Amino acid sequence: MKKQILVSGGAGYIGSHVTVELINAGYDVIVADNMSNCDMTCYEGVKKITGKQDIPFVEMDFCNYGVVEKLFTDYKIDAVIHFAAFKAVGESVVKPIMYYKNNLLSFLNLLEAIQKHGACNVLFSSSATVYGEVETLPVTEKSPRLPATSPYGKTKQMCEDILRDTIKAQTNIKGIALRYFNPIGAHPSALIGELPRGVPNNLVPYITQTAIGKRECLNIFGNDYPTPDGTCLRDYIDVVDLAKAHVATITRMVEGCMKEDYEVFNVGIGRPVSVLELVTTFEKVNELSLNYKYVERRMGDVPSLWADTTLANEELGWKATRTLEETLKSAWEWEKYVAQKENK
Ligand code: WQD
Repeated sequence: MKKQILVSGGAGYIGSHVTVELINAGYDVIVADNMSNCDMTCYEGVKKITGKQDIPFVEMDFCNYGVVEKLFTDYKIDAVIHFAAFKAVGESVVKPIMYYKNNLLSFLNLLEAIQKHGACNVLFSSSATVYGEVETLPVTEKSPRLPATSPYGKTKQMCEDILRDTIKAQTNIKGIALRYFNPIGAHPSALIGELPRGVPNNLVPYITQTAIGKRECLNIFGNDYPTPDGTCLRDYIDVVDLAKAHVATITRMVEGCMKEDYEVFNVGIGRPVSVLELVTTFEKVNELSLNYKYVERRMGDVPSLWADTTLANEELGWKATRTLEETLKSAWEWEKYVAQKENK
């Protein structure tokens, strides 16, 4: 009997890539999403990539406990991957109540439904933002979680604590939090990828939209940081590599290989890449010239952040394999696919 995985937020950027890799690995997937931050493009793309037409899709809001609980009576669920959350750092500063209410209540509802309906494994989509303004690099899972720099980051810290405390309190839930660094890129098929609503906050979608002509110019926020070329350093993880880390994690849980009932893993490439390096690599691999200029620093940016991924490499048997060049090519192919669809 195939294991069934519920993917909350499964129609979104990372959720759709994870759904592809879960299906490829022989799992059945139920996709649940309230469609507040995506359309059906990626869900339809998942069906094309996997060739599987019968992927259950439930449009629903995890803030509504009744519909969350109904999932557990309608389906036999062996594990849940929880992506469903708002994730724009800047927006969370402007709308904290919306972020605390949505990100905490949706997760609390999920855990309460699991508590009521029996054993289940939980993979929580966490973020490197839980480390706050780190002093020592690279970051390991034992690095202290300093105060998060946004309500979004605080909701990730709180959800990790809620999961850990719930697991401690009862025996029918085990869980793993994956702390992503900077997910970028798209599936090689160019059928799924990142579809930010409005003006992109993140670097790579802003780059690809500038290259395609949707944006006039890329503003590089600061080139006076204490880094080799003055621009910020980040750990950019290819979204397909990230998705495969989720499959390795689910397998660890459903096959009973966990060493603790609650575990945490950093998911990154384990090396820093600067904004300027990423921009020039994008230009080189896609044989184009990008219009960019340096402007003042962006509030809240930390100069450098990258992961020590030893634990994930050793315990999950997972390591990022795609090169920055491959990832930036895939991001560009996806942007061109989106533009061609929009111009139809
Ligand atoms: C990366 C670098 C910017 C845009 C955020 C969240 C994190 C995670 C990933 C959710 C920074 C620079 C960016 C632009 C630029 N999301 N930049 N011009 O801030 O590292 O992380 O997204 O989990 O939680 O905090 O990612 O892509 O916004 O920025 O110069 O137009 O690119 O200053 O140095 P960030 P980012």
